[in-house]
Amino acid sequence: MRDGDRVRELFGIDAPIVLAPFGGLSAVELTAAVSELGGLGSYGLYGYEPERIAETVRAIRAATPRPFALNLWLPMGDEIDPQHAEWDAAMAVVAPFFHELGVDVPPLPARFLPDIAEQVDAVIAARPAALSVVFGVPSPELVERVHAAGIRVVGTATTVDEAVALEAGGVDAVVATGAEAAGHRVSFLHRAEDSLVGGLALIPQVADAVSVPVIAAGGIADRRGVAAAFALDAEGVQVGTAFLHTRQSAANAAHRDAIARTPAHGTVLTRAMSGRLARGLPTARSARSRRAPRSPRSRRRTGSPAASVRRPAAANGGPPVAVARAIGTLATATEAAEVFRELLGGVPGIR
Ligand SMILES: Cc1cc2nc3c(=O)[nH]c(=O)nc-3n(C[C@H](O)[C@H](O)[C@H](O)COP(=O)(O)O)c2cc1C
Repeated sequence: MRDGDRVRELFGIDAPIVLAPFGGLSAVELTAAVSELGGLGSYGLYGYEPERIAETVRAIRAATPRPFALNLWLPMGDEIDPQHAEWDAAMAVVAPFFHELGVDVPPLPARFLPDIAEQVDAVIAARPAALSVVFGVPSPELVERVHAAGIRVVGTATTVDEAVALEAGGVDAVVATGAEAAGHRVSFLHRAEDSLVGGLALIPQVADAVSVPVIAAGGIADRRGVAAAFALDAEGVQVGTAFLHTRQSAANAAHRDAIARTPAHGTVLTRAMSGRLARGLPTARSARSRRAPRSPRSRRRTGSPAASVRRPAAANGGPPVAVARAIGTLATATEAAEVFRELLGGVPGIR
């Protein structure tokens, strides 16, 4: 069994516990809370324009002087900018959900996603302790520029070969995310459906295959999960859903309630959220999309409209909300400090 020293040293933190980034649902309060507690708070920047990145980092820094991480989605090349006809057709499908909730159907946005190069520039200017990325291996130029700014780079793997590719690409640590994890399956070498390895098998194999520290993610919600991850040779853990359930998170009451109520078998893998495979709660929309014939067009990322409907629609009917499959009744704490203390109990060498 390894300890968490390398992860603590890498990020300058006290405990090898990482708050998961939540693209579209991160909260300054929760990120700062986990960093203040001695872990690494992360903030998901999916869809954030550079000005919003700078503003968010100012808010995190106003709340804590401690290290934190920022998270970006790398482009995969399947992103498309729908034009009016496609947009109208897509909106026609979801319009009833907007109407039901009294929310305006959004107009075609000027652009769907910010430019990744502009986002990276903003992250470098912000100088977080770490930049974590999903959906690929960062380019050598990106790694070099980020390292030159004194920022650590963390990649995310769903399979052993993805972890090996990330290490070859120069990352400082690899998040090994098991099939239990909530949110998108961030696979990039094989189809996401063919990369659903559970954490129990994934973590030790990744630890054997790479020399950089492995941070285990997916279904970890209490000291037993943390202890198991370390027993499998992880050197840190990344925890999402258990923190998403707390008062400090940006999840609304219906979402938090759904997290606590959903049994371990209660989530689905669906493409209804964005076109890419993700784990979330079943809703009327995901059920409908499972029945609908698949088309290449469904690989569209929805960007801001999905985010705009997520909060009011969390109870039912709208896009599925992301929660972990495996944690079921383990997500009960409502204070970030309570979750953190519990997780700390599983870190080797900490009493
Ligand atoms: C609402 C939501 C949004 C997420 N967005 C991101 C993201 O933008 N980037 C990322 O690296 N991981 C994202 N994740 C995955 C988490 O970082 C983490 O790996 C996962 O939540 C771990 O599984 P757990 O929820 O079982 O703890 C997201 C998870 C959730 C629940």
